[in-house]
Amino acid sequence: MKYKQLAIIDFIWGDNGKGIISYTDAIPYDVVIRFQGGSNAGHTIYANNRKYVLHIIPCGALYPDKICIIAGGCVINLDSLINEINALENLDIYLKGRLHIYNTATLVTDFEIALDIAKENESENSGKKIGTTKNGIGYAYANRAFRNALIIQDLCNTKVLKEKIYDLAKSINPILISLGAKEVDPETVFNKMKSQAEEVRQYIIPNTYVSELQKQGKTILFEGAQGLLLDPLNGTYPYVTSFPIHPGIIGPSCGISTKDIYVIGVMKAYTTRVGGGPFPTEIGGEIEELLRTIGKEFGATTGRPRRCGWTDIPLIKYAITISGIDEITMTCFDTLYKMGRIKICTHYIVDGERFETAPSVIPDILSKVETIYEDFEFDDTDITGINNWDDLPKLAQKFIKKIQSCLDIPITRVKTGPNIEDILDVPQI
Ligand code: IMO
Ligand code: MG
Repeated sequence: MKYKQLAIIDFIWGDNGKGIISYTDAIPYDVVIRFQGGSNAGHTIYANNRKYVLHIIPCGALYPDKICIIAGGCVINLDSLINEINALENLDIYLKGRLHIYNTATLVTDFEIALDIAKENESENSGKKIGTTKNGIGYAYANRAFRNALIIQDLCNTKVLKEKIYDLAKSINPILISLGAKEVDPETVFNKMKSQAEEVRQYIIPNTYVSELQKQGKTILFEGAQGLLLDPLNGTYPYVTSFPIHPGIIGPSCGISTKDIYVIGVMKAYTTRVGGGPFPTEIGGEIEELLRTIGKEFGATTGRPRRCGWTDIPLIKYAITISGIDEITMTCFDTLYKMGRIKICTHYIVDGERFETAPSVIPDILSKVETIYEDFEFDDTDITGINNWDDLPKLAQKFIKKIQSCLDIPITRVKTGPNIEDILDVPQI
């Protein structure tokens, strides 16, 4: 093992395969930690001849003996947590005694979910729809900021739980009514959460736990969710999620220092995003449809078709600039290769000026950039499953070298298929 602590971060708009990369890299690690986001994430992992889709449970669950932690920066919907635990148990994967949830993590209740749905429905025809996953993520983090969110610790005190649920009803139900949506009944929510608390309490730990594991010398993999361009500070705000994606958030989320964490950034050989917001290299038309079909680009959480675009060097360079990632793993190269003729966006022109790195990703700027492309052609070799650099066709090597030549951190690995073994090391010169 090269690094005692490793973070796997998607640094574009999510869905770049960090699930399978986290699963691949987790092998030698003792602990796997989810440190931000909630059930908006959908991590698809092909392993043991099965397809697993995880939303809030760290991928370490799929190994029998790894410690799995959901840290304080996460927002947790108990319905979806319990469903996921039960679904894994049905597959003979047991988490009792090795899944731990920070008592500081935020709960997502039916109030936040109803509000997310009502707001999204209201903005349906406004052209300003964020296109959230309707999991109540934004409103749970907002309530945390307003200091009226429920937290995991509240599951240990029925009186507090009830009071806080009724307080939420007081603040959220009038908004739901004003949006033409149905009120949420606090007593129903309380009764449901009270019984869920019985089940979940066994997993609760204090927020000093990861620090203690570090002192014990445990090795840790931090599994990111979403993608850096969905970060509310440095992403395409307001078309973002509601909590930092940046690896720096590992510190406050887990209650540790972030020094000595090596960070691998994961990107696809092409670009995708779900939901609204600017997307300079979005393809459109039949070619986009073809890429979506070949790449099975449909959301793992919502089933929505993902928007597909070409490789966007200025965007990649921007994401590297703001994140401090150390190296890159590129995924889905087999999909892109099947497209035959493709394009790479090498730079942007903004008001007549050339930019190698996106000057900003704020929609007002990013939606107006002119994308300049270089055409690229692949042969009809099926590169799926190739796991040796020397076995790649020359045109495939040329593509990787071309992208690499534009970046100042290394692309060290390339995925050529969905399975754990479909990965190759890129020789570093
Ligand atoms: P993984 O971990 C891709 C997007 C939504 C929407 C915006 C806000 O699978 O990569 P939210 O529900 O978070 O309030 O939605 O963020 N989004 C994701 N897009 N992958 C994800 O997770 C995402 N999680 C949220 O589509 O545009
Ligand atoms: Mg996903």
